[in-house]
Amino acid sequence: MSGNEKAWGGRFAGATAELMERFNASIGFDRKLLEVDIAGSLVHARALERAGVLTAEEVAQIHAGLEQVRAELSAPGHLFSAGLEDIHMAVERRLTELIGPLGGKLHTGRSRNDQVNLDERLYLREAIAGIRLRLRHLQQVLADSAETHLEVILPGYTHLQQAQPILFGHYALALFWMLERDQGRLEDAWKRADFLPLGAGALAGSAYPLDRQFMARELGFSGVTPNSLDTVSDRDFLLEAMAALAILMMHLSRFCEDLIIWSTREFGFVELADAFSTGSSMMPQKKNPDSLELVRGKTGRVYGDLFSLLTTMKGIPLTYAKDMQEDKEPLFDAFGSVADCLEVFAGAWQTMQLRPARMEAAVDDAALATDLADYLARQGVPFREAHHLVGRLVRFALDAGLGLRGLTLEELKSHSPTFGEDALALLDLRHSLDLRNIEGGTGPQAVRSQLARARAILNP
Ligand code: ARG
Repeated sequence: MSGNEKAWGGRFAGATAELMERFNASIGFDRKLLEVDIAGSLVHARALERAGVLTAEEVAQIHAGLEQVRAELSAPGHLFSAGLEDIHMAVERRLTELIGPLGGKLHTGRSRNDQVNLDERLYLREAIAGIRLRLRHLQQVLADSAETHLEVILPGYTHLQQAQPILFGHYALALFWMLERDQGRLEDAWKRADFLPLGAGALAGSAYPLDRQFMARELGFSGVTPNSLDTVSDRDFLLEAMAALAILMMHLSRFCEDLIIWSTREFGFVELADAFSTGSSMMPQKKNPDSLELVRGKTGRVYGDLFSLLTTMKGIPLTYAKDMQEDKEPLFDAFGSVADCLEVFAGAWQTMQLRPARMEAAVDDAALATDLADYLARQGVPFREAHHLVGRLVRFALDAGLGLRGLTLEELKSHSPTFGEDALALLDLRHSLDLRNIEGGTGPQAVRSQLARARAILNP
């Protein structure tokens, strides 16, 4: 296509270099915005009618034309040429081929700067809804798994060193609550995106009396943006959502890391299903947790998407500059990757086998040391001193090659006369867990109420 055939070609005497045409084009990726672009144009045409720019008959023709454009351009094999530049131009060009010069009236009072901003908000609304649905599904899987394996005992870690015994139900619900905050962040991000940008024009506001409130209502926005310069400069709504996605991925990634460690022969706490594992091309014995490794790996990629856009935005003088076209690939990549990761992670979790006996056997009974110190503290020994006494007791047991549970009452007493007969009962995992029925703790009663709280969110 030569320069003077372009929508903006009037001012140009020479043709665009073929290299520049390819470099400039976003149609290869922004074709994803076809549906929302047309949805926006349908409403814009009606606003033009209300502003006296188009007749009802013209709007009807434009609407019919746009429907046909939608059908044609959404066909899976449809090829777009780079000369079309972007999805906005591609739609307008095909519309004009179909309905003639009237197609050229559609862009009255609108710029691609407010148009692309609208398209991205509409895309974002659906993309957030899609992620939130998948989050809900994963939360459901976690609640079910917490219920099924609620009382399975395993070591809880800090510094990846055994700390205190915990229940598996408690562990699974930990992720449930992280994801619940992710839900909140996405919901909240949408609140600030929920404003109509159309009417901002290129930057200074449209010179036609477009009823912005009408367009906002028709497109389902809660209001209209207050400043046209801010509007066409703004990509905060994408950044906020992508930051929420980055945090979400960080959550998944940490659980992937745990499960990868737990699925090693050394730990053997879980076994991933064949369906979510892969083998080695060389070593016949291998079964690798690739599903979880890929989710962990894609976390870096989603962070990169966020940083790519943050970096793109930081030096752009107000208002729009073409740099901002670089927002789309990271945006689509982040939402696409997170959608995939949520599904894969839910599948891997749902199908993995727990090894409860391995988990419980792995609990070092030194993990009960805090309970012994608490026992002394309850008898009036200052906690710091109790901590020290029990520390020496642990060292004594270690030197003797015993676990805490191997110690006699006499050995306890020799470290502190405050230890009584009832102290021995402390050296029991279930007892230790029963001590932690505080709201939010790992005690079985507490985990049951926590589960009820989670269920109330899932089934309001
Ligand atoms: N494809 C462009 C983008 O994504 C659309 C906006 C173009 N605006 C312009 N003034 N050239 O940013």
